[in-house]
Amino acid sequence: MSRVLVIGGGGREHALVWKLRQSSQVERVFCAPGNAGIRELAECVPLDVSGGVPELIRFVKDHAIDFTVVGPEAPLVEGLVDRFTEANLAIFGPGQAAAQLEGSKAFAKGFMARYGIPTARWQVVRSWEEAQQAIRQIALPVVVKADGLAAGKGVTISETKEEALHTLESLMLRDTFGPAGKTVVLEECLQGEEASVMAFCDGQTLLPLPSSQDHKRVWDQDQGPNTGGMGAYAPAPVVTDTVMRHIESSIFTPFLKGLAAERLSYHGLIYFGLMLTSQGPKVLEFNVRFGDPETQAVLPLLQDNLLDLLGATVQGRLRQMYPDGLKVQSGSAVCVVLASGGYPGRYVKGKPIAGLTGYSAAQVATDSHVTVFHAGTAREGQTTITSGGRVLGVTAVDTTIEQAIQRAYQAVKKIHFEGMHYRRDIAARALKVLQRTSS
Ligand code: AMP
Ligand code: GLY
Repeated sequence: MSRVLVIGGGGREHALVWKLRQSSQVERVFCAPGNAGIRELAECVPLDVSGGVPELIRFVKDHAIDFTVVGPEAPLVEGLVDRFTEANLAIFGPGQAAAQLEGSKAFAKGFMARYGIPTARWQVVRSWEEAQQAIRQIALPVVVKADGLAAGKGVTISETKEEALHTLESLMLRDTFGPAGKTVVLEECLQGEEASVMAFCDGQTLLPLPSSQDHKRVWDQDQGPNTGGMGAYAPAPVVTDTVMRHIESSIFTPFLKGLAAERLSYHGLIYFGLMLTSQGPKVLEFNVRFGDPETQAVLPLLQDNLLDLLGATVQGRLRQMYPDGLKVQSGSAVCVVLASGGYPGRYVKGKPIAGLTGYSAAQVATDSHVTVFHAGTAREGQTTITSGGRVLGVTAVDTTIEQAIQRAYQAVKKIHFEGMHYRRDIAARALKVLQRTSS
């Protein structure tokens, strides 16, 4: 029997806790800090995962926790896994050096160049003078990316040089993202369909989960500013078997070669954000952890036991334990994110949420195809209230993507809080791809 600690408190962590709870070997689950939904499945503990690593390690030892899973990127980039490994504690996630693949876009680009991983052409600028000079000669549109972590909001696409300079100015001179924006990557703008592939990585083997697609812009038809993600679906029909084989040979193989050559310790999940271009799949970004909200769409399709998978990853036994890949149920999953009024800008918190009864991930839901994963929620007495920008992720699983879409939106209609907004076109691109391929 195992005791597991999950670090984080968003929709992704709710999905991880929910999936771990389905394992009969899991005795207790702790979550730091968790949220109102996670509280129904795990013991939530208010530990400081950034400043308070010694306390965290003490907590793990005192509670005889066998296994820790890291949800968000920041603790990985700060070296949490290295501290746990030094203390001989089992933990799922890459070491600090490998976490630079997400923590620094300039590092990620250099890594891709060294191992021939296809990606957009780019240049790195480290000062305002360099930036101004680069923009004079750049082809448009240009993608401007803050080098460091920016919660999914550090990327803008500029159609004009003035716009690009304006973005660069706010990153480099006005500190919009603090030190994360002092170095900037300027990139060629790629055309194509976007898709994500998440894979378990034990340094030797990559074991992919079903593909998925996120919806980063806040409004329908990909309008408005970028967000942490307004919804996702899985699998993504653009990632056909042929495309997947191409991804494996042109991206997975050199990726593993690069990890080995640079002695980067990686026992965790790697997320490949891809653009499927006319010249084949290219990497837009790496994330060194489960995607949010992709995880809320992908994990409900996974049939294998999650604790076993995490364990095999940490022990370097993926090839041995999963020679035929992962077991995944047929059908599709759609996750619609319900966000607070104002998000991704300033938003208000503390709004009571109505209509959750029957959709709790802890109970046998009235609609067993639907699970509501909590993200920014908290409890106030007996009431569940909003406490973040992305509040809930409503996931439906069904035989076809059309049915899953319908089911998800039917459930969304029953939930309400003041100011709530959501996209009405989650997975619409999947339908377009399917129409194109069937006609
Ligand atoms: P990233 O955080 O690097 O994935 O960027 C966020 C979003 O910006 C991506 O999901 C894409 O929609 C877009 N994006 C990033 N890089 C490029 C690129 N080189 N060409 C076109 N779109 C991009
Ligand atoms: N949904 C993209 C991410 O997790 O960064």
